[in-house]
Amino acid sequence: MVDLLWLEKTLGKIMANLQAIIKEEIANGGPMTIARYMELALSHPEFGYYMKQDPFGEDGDFTTAPEISQMFGELIGIWSAVVWQGMGGPENINLVELGPGRGTLMADCTRAAGALEEFDDAIRITLVETSPVLRDMQKKTLLATMRMPAWRDNFDDVNDGPLIILANEFFDALPIDQYEKSNTGWHVRAIDWDEDEEILKYVLGEKLDDESPIPSDLRNAPMGAIFERSPIGEKIVRSISERILKFGGAALIIDYGHIERGIGDTLQAVKNHAYFDVLAEPGNADITAHVDFSALADIAEGMGLNVMGPVPQGAFLARLGLRQRADRLILSAAEEQVAEIEASYARLVEAEQMGTLFKVMCIASPGLGVPPWAE
Ligand SMILES: C[S@@+](CC[C@H](N)C(=O)[O-])C[C@H]1O[C@@H](n2cnc3c(N)ncnc32)[C@H](O)[C@@H]1O
Repeated sequence: MVDLLWLEKTLGKIMANLQAIIKEEIANGGPMTIARYMELALSHPEFGYYMKQDPFGEDGDFTTAPEISQMFGELIGIWSAVVWQGMGGPENINLVELGPGRGTLMADCTRAAGALEEFDDAIRITLVETSPVLRDMQKKTLLATMRMPAWRDNFDDVNDGPLIILANEFFDALPIDQYEKSNTGWHVRAIDWDEDEEILKYVLGEKLDDESPIPSDLRNAPMGAIFERSPIGEKIVRSISERILKFGGAALIIDYGHIERGIGDTLQAVKNHAYFDVLAEPGNADITAHVDFSALADIAEGMGLNVMGPVPQGAFLARLGLRQRADRLILSAAEEQVAEIEASYARLVEAEQMGTLFKVMCIASPGLGVPPWAE
Protein backbone atom coordinates (compact mmCIF):
# COMPACT_ATOMS: atom_id res chain seq x y z
CA MET A 1 0.00 0.00 0.00
CA VAL A 2 1.36 3.42 -0.93
CA ASP A 3 1.27 5.94 1.90
CA LEU A 4 -0.41 8.83 0.06
CA LEU A 5 0.38 11.42 2.71
CA TRP A 6 4.09 10.51 2.61
CA LEU A 7 4.04 10.54 -1.20
CA GLU A 8 2.39 13.96 -1.32
CA LYS A 9 4.88 15.41 1.18
CA THR A 10 7.87 13.91 -0.66
CA LEU A 11 6.73 15.12 -4.08
CA GLY A 12 5.97 18.55 -2.64
CA LYS A 13 9.49 18.72 -1.18
CA ILE A 14 11.12 17.71 -4.46
CA MET A 15 9.18 20.34 -6.37
CA ALA A 16 9.88 23.03 -3.77
CA ASN A 17 13.59 22.18 -3.86
CA LEU A 18 13.94 22.15 -7.62
CA GLN A 19 11.81 25.25 -7.99
CA ALA A 20 14.01 26.99 -5.39
CA ILE A 21 17.15 25.96 -7.32
CA ILE A 22 15.67 27.31 -10.56
CA LYS A 23 14.51 30.49 -8.87
CA GLU A 24 17.99 31.09 -7.44
CA GLU A 25 19.68 30.46 -10.78
CA ILE A 26 17.34 33.02 -12.38
CA ALA A 27 17.99 35.52 -9.57
CA ASN A 28 21.75 35.20 -10.18
CA GLY A 29 21.89 34.90 -13.96
CA GLY A 30 18.65 36.31 -15.35
CA PRO A 31 15.94 34.45 -17.30
CA MET A 32 16.81 30.81 -18.00
CA THR A 33 16.76 29.15 -21.43
CA ILE A 34 14.21 26.43 -22.08
CA ALA A 35 17.11 23.98 -22.58
CA ARG A 36 18.53 24.72 -19.13
CA TYR A 37 15.07 24.39 -17.56
CA MET A 38 14.55 20.99 -19.25
CA GLU A 39 18.00 19.85 -18.20
CA LEU A 40 17.29 20.66 -14.54
CA ALA A 41 13.69 19.38 -14.56
CA LEU A 42 14.63 16.04 -16.15
CA SER A 43 18.23 15.40 -15.13
CA HIS A 44 19.11 17.35 -11.96
CA PRO A 45 21.23 14.72 -10.11
CA GLU A 46 18.95 14.75 -7.05
CA PHE A 47 15.57 16.13 -8.08
CA GLY A 48 15.44 15.53 -11.86
CA TYR A 49 12.36 13.66 -13.09
CA TYR A 50 14.26 10.67 -14.55
CA MET A 51 16.88 10.57 -11.80
CA LYS A 52 14.61 9.63 -8.94
CA GLN A 53 11.81 7.41 -10.20
CA ASP A 54 10.42 4.89 -12.64
CA PRO A 55 7.90 6.94 -14.63
CA PHE A 56 6.43 4.14 -16.79
CA GLY A 57 3.23 2.13 -16.78
CA GLU A 58 -0.28 2.50 -15.44
CA ASP A 59 0.91 3.70 -12.01
CA GLY A 60 3.37 6.11 -13.59
CA ASP A 61 2.97 9.03 -15.94
CA PHE A 62 3.16 7.48 -19.43
CA THR A 63 3.63 4.24 -21.34
CA THR A 64 6.01 3.59 -24.23
CA ALA A 65 5.78 1.09 -27.10
CA PRO A 66 8.06 -1.58 -25.54
CA GLU A 67 5.96 -1.42 -22.36
CA ILE A 68 2.77 -1.90 -24.38
CA SER A 69 3.81 -5.20 -25.95
CA GLN A 70 6.76 -7.59 -26.22
CA MET A 71 6.06 -7.66 -29.98
CA PHE A 72 7.64 -4.21 -30.42
CA GLY A 73 11.08 -5.23 -29.09
CA GLU A 74 10.92 -8.63 -30.78
CA LEU A 75 10.46 -7.10 -34.22
CA ILE A 76 13.31 -4.69 -33.57
CA GLY A 77 15.43 -7.72 -32.61
CA ILE A 78 14.68 -9.31 -35.97
CA TRP A 79 15.41 -6.00 -37.70
CA SER A 80 18.79 -5.86 -35.89
CA ALA A 81 19.66 -9.44 -36.86
CA VAL A 82 19.02 -8.69 -40.54
CA VAL A 83 21.12 -5.51 -40.34
CA TRP A 84 23.94 -7.51 -38.74
CA GLN A 85 23.78 -10.05 -41.59
CA GLY A 86 23.88 -7.15 -44.07
CA MET A 87 27.05 -5.91 -42.33
CA GLY A 88 28.68 -9.26 -43.13
CA GLY A 89 28.04 -10.74 -39.68
CA PRO A 90 30.92 -9.18 -37.66
CA GLU A 91 32.17 -11.40 -34.83
CA ASN A 92 31.38 -8.70 -32.25
CA ILE A 93 28.53 -6.25 -32.62
CA ASN A 94 27.84 -3.57 -30.07
CA LEU A 95 24.08 -3.32 -29.62
CA VAL A 96 23.70 0.14 -28.11
CA GLU A 97 20.46 1.54 -26.70
CA LEU A 98 20.07 5.23 -25.90
CA GLY A 99 17.70 5.95 -22.98
CA PRO A 100 16.60 2.34 -22.36
CA GLY A 101 13.94 3.07 -19.68
CA ARG A 102 13.19 -0.20 -17.86
CA GLY A 103 15.34 -2.27 -20.28
CA THR A 104 12.26 -3.94 -21.75
CA LEU A 105 13.03 -3.19 -25.40
CA MET A 106 16.56 -4.59 -25.11
CA ALA A 107 15.35 -7.73 -23.29
CA ASP A 108 12.66 -8.47 -25.92
CA CYS A 109 15.01 -7.55 -28.76
CA THR A 110 17.84 -9.85 -27.66
CA ARG A 111 15.45 -12.71 -26.83
CA ALA A 112 14.09 -12.63 -30.39
CA ALA A 113 17.52 -12.07 -31.93
CA GLY A 114 18.79 -15.09 -30.00
CA ALA A 115 16.96 -17.28 -32.51
CA LEU A 116 19.89 -16.57 -34.82
CA GLU A 117 22.71 -18.27 -32.90
CA GLU A 118 25.67 -16.53 -34.55
CA PHE A 119 24.09 -13.13 -33.94
CA ASP A 120 23.32 -14.10 -30.36
CA ASP A 121 27.02 -14.94 -29.82
CA ALA A 122 28.18 -11.69 -31.42
CA ILE A 123 26.01 -9.33 -29.32
CA ARG A 124 27.64 -7.04 -26.73
CA ILE A 125 25.14 -4.68 -25.09
CA THR A 126 25.79 -1.07 -24.10
CA LEU A 127 23.09 1.03 -22.44
CA VAL A 128 23.47 4.81 -22.48
CA GLU A 129 21.57 5.92 -19.40
CA THR A 130 22.00 8.73 -16.89
CA SER A 131 19.37 7.70 -14.31
CA PRO A 132 20.63 5.52 -11.42
CA VAL A 133 17.08 4.35 -10.67
CA LEU A 134 16.50 3.22 -14.25
CA ARG A 135 19.98 1.63 -14.47
CA ASP A 136 18.98 -0.59 -11.54
CA MET A 137 15.78 -1.59 -13.30
CA GLN A 138 17.67 -2.28 -16.54
CA LYS A 139 20.10 -4.50 -14.64
CA LYS A 140 17.25 -6.57 -13.18
CA THR A 141 15.44 -6.85 -16.52
CA LEU A 142 18.54 -7.93 -18.44
CA LEU A 143 19.94 -10.25 -15.79
CA ALA A 144 16.66 -12.15 -16.04
CA THR A 145 17.58 -12.81 -19.68
CA MET A 146 21.18 -13.77 -18.72
CA ARG A 147 22.71 -10.68 -20.35
CA MET A 148 25.17 -8.35 -18.67
CA PRO A 149 25.32 -4.96 -20.39
CA ALA A 150 27.85 -2.17 -20.00
CA TRP A 151 26.51 1.26 -19.03
CA ARG A 152 27.66 4.66 -20.21
CA ASP A 153 26.50 8.19 -19.33
CA ASN A 154 27.24 9.47 -22.84
CA PHE A 155 27.19 8.00 -26.30
CA ASP A 156 30.74 9.34 -26.85
CA ASP A 157 32.05 6.90 -24.21
CA VAL A 158 30.70 3.80 -26.02
CA ASN A 159 33.51 1.38 -27.06
CA ASP A 160 34.81 1.48 -30.62
CA GLY A 161 33.66 -1.14 -33.14
CA PRO A 162 30.76 -2.03 -35.45
CA LEU A 163 27.47 -1.07 -33.86
CA ILE A 164 23.69 -1.07 -34.11
CA ILE A 165 22.05 1.75 -32.17
CA LEU A 166 18.44 1.77 -30.95
CA ALA A 167 16.69 4.88 -29.59
CA ASN A 168 13.00 4.76 -28.72
CA GLU A 169 11.58 7.96 -27.20
CA PHE A 170 15.09 9.18 -26.36
CA PHE A 171 15.47 12.25 -28.58
CA ASP A 172 12.15 13.75 -27.41
CA ALA A 173 13.55 13.85 -23.85
CA LEU A 174 16.59 15.94 -24.81
CA PRO A 175 16.63 19.67 -24.01
CA ILE A 176 15.58 22.07 -26.75
CA ASP A 177 16.11 25.78 -27.35
CA GLN A 178 13.12 27.87 -28.37
CA TYR A 179 13.24 31.12 -30.36
CA GLU A 180 10.36 33.58 -30.64
CA LYS A 181 9.70 36.18 -33.33
CA SER A 182 8.64 39.58 -31.99
CA ASN A 183 8.27 42.99 -33.61
CA THR A 184 11.97 43.56 -32.83
CA GLY A 185 13.14 40.34 -34.52
CA TRP A 186 14.05 36.84 -33.29
CA HIS A 187 14.65 36.37 -29.55
CA VAL A 188 15.59 33.48 -27.31
CA ARG A 189 12.46 32.29 -25.49
CA ALA A 190 13.23 32.09 -21.79
CA ILE A 191 11.77 31.39 -18.34
CA ASP A 192 11.62 33.96 -15.55
CA TRP A 193 10.30 34.09 -11.99
CA ASP A 194 7.11 36.13 -11.51
CA GLU A 195 7.49 37.82 -8.09
CA ASP A 196 3.81 38.81 -7.81
CA GLU A 197 2.28 35.48 -8.76
CA GLU A 198 5.20 33.46 -7.35
CA ILE A 199 5.30 31.22 -10.40
CA LEU A 200 7.62 30.53 -13.32
CA LYS A 201 6.58 32.19 -16.57
CA TYR A 202 7.74 32.43 -20.20
CA VAL A 203 9.41 35.68 -21.29
CA LEU A 204 11.08 37.06 -24.37
CA GLY A 205 14.81 36.65 -23.74
CA GLU A 206 17.82 38.20 -25.47
CA LYS A 207 17.48 39.34 -29.08
CA LEU A 208 19.55 37.32 -31.54
CA ASP A 209 22.25 39.48 -33.15
CA ASP A 210 23.09 36.54 -35.33
CA GLU A 211 19.97 34.79 -36.68
CA SER A 212 21.86 31.69 -37.85
CA PRO A 213 20.06 29.33 -35.40
CA ILE A 214 16.86 30.06 -37.41
CA PRO A 215 16.78 28.37 -40.84
CA SER A 216 16.79 31.07 -43.55
CA ASP A 217 13.43 29.94 -45.03
CA LEU A 218 11.73 30.49 -41.64
CA ARG A 219 13.19 33.86 -40.66
CA ASN A 220 10.24 35.77 -42.15
CA ALA A 221 7.72 33.87 -40.00
CA PRO A 222 4.89 35.98 -38.50
CA MET A 223 5.09 37.65 -35.09
CA GLY A 224 4.67 35.22 -32.23
CA ALA A 225 6.14 32.33 -34.23
CA ILE A 226 8.25 29.86 -32.25
CA PHE A 227 11.10 27.83 -33.71
CA GLU A 228 12.70 24.92 -31.84
CA ARG A 229 15.95 23.06 -32.15
CA SER A 230 17.87 20.61 -30.00
CA PRO A 231 21.63 21.28 -30.10
CA ILE A 232 22.18 18.24 -27.87
CA GLY A 233 20.15 15.97 -30.16
CA GLU A 234 22.04 17.34 -33.17
CA LYS A 235 25.39 16.73 -31.45
CA ILE A 236 24.45 13.12 -30.63
CA VAL A 237 23.43 12.46 -34.26
CA ARG A 238 26.78 13.90 -35.39
CA SER A 239 28.61 11.51 -33.02
CA ILE A 240 26.46 8.55 -34.11
CA SER A 241 27.16 9.35 -37.76
CA GLU A 242 30.93 9.60 -37.16
CA ARG A 243 30.91 6.19 -35.43
CA ILE A 244 28.89 4.52 -38.15
CA LEU A 245 31.13 5.99 -40.85
CA LYS A 246 34.24 4.73 -39.05
CA PHE A 247 33.15 1.27 -37.88
CA GLY A 248 30.02 0.41 -39.88
CA GLY A 249 26.47 -0.12 -38.67
CA ALA A 250 23.09 1.54 -38.36
CA ALA A 251 20.94 3.56 -35.96
CA LEU A 252 17.19 3.17 -35.59
CA ILE A 253 15.48 6.28 -34.18
CA ILE A 254 11.84 5.97 -33.14
CA ASP A 255 10.05 8.98 -31.74
CA TYR A 256 7.17 11.34 -32.18
CA GLY A 257 7.89 14.37 -34.22
CA HIS A 258 7.69 16.12 -37.56
CA ILE A 259 9.12 15.16 -40.92
CA GLU A 260 9.32 18.73 -42.25
CA ARG A 261 11.04 21.50 -40.34
CA GLY A 262 8.60 24.20 -39.26
CA ILE A 263 7.24 26.72 -36.81
CA GLY A 264 5.45 25.68 -33.62
CA ASP A 265 5.65 25.24 -29.86
CA THR A 266 5.72 21.50 -29.12
CA LEU A 267 7.05 21.65 -25.56
CA GLN A 268 4.75 19.61 -23.36
CA ALA A 269 4.52 17.99 -19.96
CA VAL A 270 2.70 14.83 -18.95
CA LYS A 271 1.74 13.65 -15.50
CA ASN A 272 -0.52 10.73 -14.56
CA HIS A 273 -1.22 10.07 -18.26
CA ALA A 274 -2.59 13.59 -18.85
CA TYR A 275 -1.17 16.84 -20.20
CA PHE A 276 0.21 19.11 -17.49
CA ASP A 277 1.61 22.65 -17.15
CA VAL A 278 5.30 22.55 -18.22
CA LEU A 279 6.33 25.15 -15.62
CA ALA A 280 4.12 24.10 -12.70
CA GLU A 281 6.09 21.28 -11.06
CA PRO A 282 9.67 20.92 -12.33
CA GLY A 283 10.91 17.41 -11.51
CA ASN A 284 7.43 15.94 -11.04
CA ALA A 285 6.24 15.73 -14.65
CA ASP A 286 7.81 14.39 -17.83
CA ILE A 287 8.76 17.16 -20.26
CA THR A 288 9.29 16.48 -23.97
CA ALA A 289 9.34 18.18 -27.35
CA HIS A 290 8.65 16.83 -30.85
CA VAL A 291 11.73 15.58 -32.65
CA ASP A 292 12.69 17.49 -35.79
CA PHE A 293 13.58 14.49 -37.98
CA SER A 294 14.57 16.71 -40.90
CA ALA A 295 17.28 18.44 -38.82
CA LEU A 296 18.70 15.06 -37.76
CA ALA A 297 18.49 13.63 -41.30
CA ASP A 298 20.26 16.70 -42.77
CA ILE A 299 23.21 16.21 -40.41
CA ALA A 300 23.62 12.49 -41.18
CA GLU A 301 23.14 12.95 -44.93
CA GLY A 302 25.53 15.90 -44.94
CA MET A 303 28.18 13.59 -43.44
CA GLY A 304 27.67 11.04 -46.22
CA LEU A 305 25.43 8.52 -44.46
CA ASN A 306 22.42 6.79 -45.90
CA VAL A 307 19.17 7.99 -44.27
CA MET A 308 15.94 6.01 -44.65
CA GLY A 309 12.57 7.33 -43.61
CA PRO A 310 11.16 8.71 -41.46
CA VAL A 311 8.14 6.49 -42.00
CA PRO A 312 5.11 6.13 -39.71
CA GLN A 313 5.61 3.56 -36.93
CA GLY A 314 2.46 1.67 -37.99
CA ALA A 315 3.79 1.12 -41.52
CA PHE A 316 7.24 0.14 -40.23
CA LEU A 317 5.86 -2.47 -37.82
CA ALA A 318 3.39 -3.81 -40.40
CA ARG A 319 6.23 -4.31 -42.87
CA LEU A 320 8.25 -6.21 -40.24
CA GLY A 321 5.31 -8.58 -39.68
CA LEU A 322 3.52 -7.28 -36.58
CA ARG A 323 0.18 -8.81 -37.66
CA GLN A 324 1.79 -12.23 -38.19
CA ARG A 325 3.54 -12.02 -34.81
CA ALA A 326 0.26 -11.08 -33.08
CA ASP A 327 -1.54 -14.01 -34.78
CA ARG A 328 1.21 -16.33 -33.66
CA LEU A 329 0.91 -15.17 -30.03
CA ILE A 330 -2.87 -15.48 -30.20
CA LEU A 331 -2.59 -19.14 -31.27
CA SER A 332 -1.06 -20.06 -27.91
CA ALA A 333 -2.83 -17.42 -25.78
CA ALA A 334 -5.54 -17.97 -23.16
CA GLU A 335 -8.93 -16.52 -24.10
CA GLU A 336 -8.57 -13.47 -21.85
CA GLN A 337 -5.16 -12.65 -23.35
CA VAL A 338 -6.45 -12.48 -26.92
CA ALA A 339 -8.21 -9.14 -26.37
CA GLU A 340 -5.05 -7.82 -24.69
CA ILE A 341 -2.87 -8.78 -27.68
CA GLU A 342 -5.36 -7.21 -30.11
CA ALA A 343 -5.49 -4.01 -28.01
CA SER A 344 -1.67 -3.75 -27.94
CA TYR A 345 -1.53 -4.38 -31.68
CA ALA A 346 -4.02 -1.55 -32.27
CA ARG A 347 -2.16 0.84 -29.96
CA LEU A 348 1.09 0.32 -31.81
CA VAL A 349 -0.19 0.65 -35.38
CA GLU A 350 -3.49 2.51 -35.57
CA ALA A 351 -3.38 6.01 -36.96
CA GLU A 352 -5.27 7.62 -34.08
CA GLN A 353 -3.00 5.91 -31.55
CA MET A 354 0.80 5.58 -32.04
CA GLY A 355 0.72 4.50 -35.69
CA THR A 356 1.27 7.85 -37.43
CA LEU A 357 2.42 10.31 -34.77
CA PHE A 358 5.45 8.13 -34.08
CA LYS A 359 8.01 7.91 -36.86
CA VAL A 360 10.94 5.63 -37.58
CA MET A 361 14.18 6.77 -39.21
CA CYS A 362 17.33 4.79 -39.96
CA ILE A 363 20.85 6.16 -40.38
CA ALA A 364 23.13 3.56 -41.96
CA SER A 365 26.57 3.04 -43.46
CA PRO A 366 26.58 3.97 -47.13
CA GLY A 367 25.58 0.90 -49.14
CA LEU A 368 24.29 -1.11 -46.17
CA GLY A 369 21.02 -2.86 -46.94
CA VAL A 370 18.45 -2.69 -44.14
CA PRO A 371 15.07 -4.45 -43.96
CA PRO A 372 12.46 -2.71 -46.12
CA TRP A 373 10.53 0.27 -44.80
CA ALA A 374 6.93 1.04 -45.66
CA GLU A 375 4.33 -0.81 -47.75
C1 LIG B 1 10.92 8.48 -22.37
S1 LIG B 1 12.13 7.47 -21.67
C2 LIG B 1 12.20 6.19 -22.91
C3 LIG B 1 12.50 4.86 -22.33
C4 LIG B 1 12.58 3.66 -23.26
N1 LIG B 1 13.37 3.89 -24.44
C5 LIG B 1 11.22 3.16 -23.65
O1 LIG B 1 10.87 3.25 -24.81
O2 LIG B 1 10.50 2.67 -22.78
C6 LIG B 1 13.64 8.35 -21.84
C7 LIG B 1 14.88 7.59 -21.38
O3 LIG B 1 16.04 8.37 -21.70
C8 LIG B 1 16.84 8.52 -20.53
N2 LIG B 1 17.53 9.80 -20.67
C9 LIG B 1 17.00 11.03 -20.68
N3 LIG B 1 17.94 11.97 -20.93
C10 LIG B 1 19.10 11.28 -21.11
C11 LIG B 1 20.43 11.68 -21.43
N4 LIG B 1 20.76 12.96 -21.59
N5 LIG B 1 21.37 10.72 -21.57
C12 LIG B 1 21.05 9.41 -21.40
N6 LIG B 1 19.79 8.98 -21.10
C13 LIG B 1 18.84 9.90 -20.95
C14 LIG B 1 15.85 8.43 -19.38
O4 LIG B 1 16.43 8.18 -18.15
C15 LIG B 1 14.96 7.29 -19.92
O5 LIG B 1 15.58 6.03 -19.73
